[in-house]
Amino acid sequence: MTQNDTRNVDGDDEQRTDGSETAVSEPTTGSDATSDSLLDASLDVEGGTVPADADTVIEARDLDVFYDDVQALEGVDIEIPENGVTALIGPSGCGKSTFLRSINRMNDLIDAARVDGDLRFEGKNVYDDDVDPVALRRKIGMVFQTPNPFPKSIYDNVAFGLEVQDKADDVDETVHRALERAALLEEVEDQLDSSGLDLSGGQQQRLCIARAIAPDPDVLLMDEPASALDPIATSKIEDLIEDLAEEYTVVIVTHNMQQAARISDKTAVFLTGGELVEFDDTDKIFENPEHERVEDYITGKFG
Ligand SMILES: Nc1ncnc2c1ncn2[C@@H]1O[C@H](COP(=O)(O)OP(=O)(O)OP(=O)(O)O)[C@@H](O)[C@H]1O
Ligand SMILES: [Mg+2]
Repeated sequence: MTQNDTRNVDGDDEQRTDGSETAVSEPTTGSDATSDSLLDASLDVEGGTVPADADTVIEARDLDVFYDDVQALEGVDIEIPENGVTALIGPSGCGKSTFLRSINRMNDLIDAARVDGDLRFEGKNVYDDDVDPVALRRKIGMVFQTPNPFPKSIYDNVAFGLEVQDKADDVDETVHRALERAALLEEVEDQLDSSGLDLSGGQQQRLCIARAIAPDPDVLLMDEPASALDPIATSKIEDLIEDLAEEYTVVIVTHNMQQAARISDKTAVFLTGGELVEFDDTDKIFENPEHERVEDYITGKFG
């Protein structure tokens, strides 16, 4: 088994457990008939840093995904702009993880999965025969719900994605830079040879982010990256995501409405049946959505 295989299988295993262990934090916004906004006052929508004419980095056209004969996504059309944070929200089982995995072809690792339609990354259909999924995953990194460092040193965890590249890069410098970028360097500088597994959960997640950004990706996919963490570790990850979004296109799945409202610029709402019902600026989705079903979901009437 090559190192690439190890990485993919690890990611896949992690992902397969996600459906069953969902740490769902229910929307806490009670519906408030007297309020103009659908949001509780505590939901402070920031958003809006993506310029209206930002280039599209990821584009889905009529995307369907099936697991054997069960359809998980139906006719998804979306254009995700460069940089900034795009949040994917919706009730459990509506296909958020499936959509995220279709972007960097992690669904390839699930035998039952079949994808129809177009998924374009920088204009190129990622399902074309000439696309190398391993190279694609270096450009589109992924971070999972449960931190999954390898049983290796902190240093080797970050260097992992680099070793498979045919570049004479300065690995040392790149590892340090990635750890710094992931807001972890200061905490681990003197223990780069210790096991990544000895770190706290929040540090492990930042290590996984460092591993994902070391190969210099364009896109970071994050599947509920903070849902296994305590509030302080969560807040650090949220700050980091906002910071990373200046340089990378971040697509994040979250069950936490406040988190989506706080950190995302755009929000996509998937609903049961695998349909992308609405995609817009985050403040529009949370304050004045077009669809009643979206309003019901946001205000906690179901989901
Ligand atoms: N590996 C798999 N094999 C078969 N069916 C799957 C697999 N993964 C997901 N599904 C099915 O696809 C549908 C969408 O699942 P998905 O995990 O994408 O939802 P989700 O929105 O991420 O849910 P959650 O919020 O619970 O994580 C569900 O019906 C699920 O049972
Ligand atoms: Mg999921």
